[in-house]
Amino acid sequence: MQFTSAIVFAILAYTNTVMATPVPTSTAVATPPATTTLSLTQQLFLSDTAVDRFKLLPNNDDFVFSFNQDQKGAGKGGRLIAANRKTFPALVGSGSGMAVGFVGACGMNTLHVHPRATELQVVVQGRLVTEMVPENGVNNPDGTPRVISNTVNAFEMTPFYQGSVHTQFNPDCTDAVFVASFNSEDFGAGQIANETFAVGNDVIAATFGQSINGADIDKIRAAIPASIALGVEECLMKCNIKKN
Ligand SMILES: *[C@@H]1O[C@H](CO)[C@@H](O)[C@H](O)[C@H]1NC(C)=O
Repeated sequence: MQFTSAIVFAILAYTNTVMATPVPTSTAVATPPATTTLSLTQQLFLSDTAVDRFKLLPNNDDFVFSFNQDQKGAGKGGRLIAANRKTFPALVGSGSGMAVGFVGACGMNTLHVHPRATELQVVVQGRLVTEMVPENGVNNPDGTPRVISNTVNAFEMTPFYQGSVHTQFNPDCTDAVFVASFNSEDFGAGQIANETFAVGNDVIAATFGQSINGADIDKIRAAIPASIALGVEECLMKCNIKKN
């Protein structure tokens, strides 16, 4: 089901390409154009079978993805490299994705959700403090929302369920690294602060019970950092890291 919109998009893109070239009236079936404007991922999607996909990936290194690269628009606290079906077309048809996070001293992967996947996260260097809020109704005995919080050490794993709101931060002054698998080629992410403060001030004011005014909302909006951000104050002081 998760493929539907991408398939429709790919077919539309394909149809446009075909329609741009004159179609001979005598042939009932249009032959594909010699050149295509489709991305490799789109072509892989349209392949008749999995066997046909391998013809589009002729080199052995088409099947290797390197996490040793920079992240565009990375925050101050580290970088996160994602292998999805766009960045790594060989994933088409696998139903799987992966990310590696390099979290610097006091770095925080800010609160976010994955709209289409559950994440299994393994810490492979250092340790991370993780927090997850699953959904409405998962509460403590006193009725407050349950926050599943853990310190995950090297070679320990924790799940972040699809749609759960979660975050990780490195409480130490040395680097931490995690590897995260996803059961989707297009796991996606939504940063909670970005998404919340994307809507108008009236809606935000109502959401927070009219406790903040327009000027404060604008200030908060302008201060939202790119992830991976610099984390909690206590850690910054301990590690002697300047906030700005
Ligand atoms: C969130 O917003 C900040 C500030 O506008 C921006 O730097 C950052 O790239 C945004 N993050 C995402 C994931 O869009």
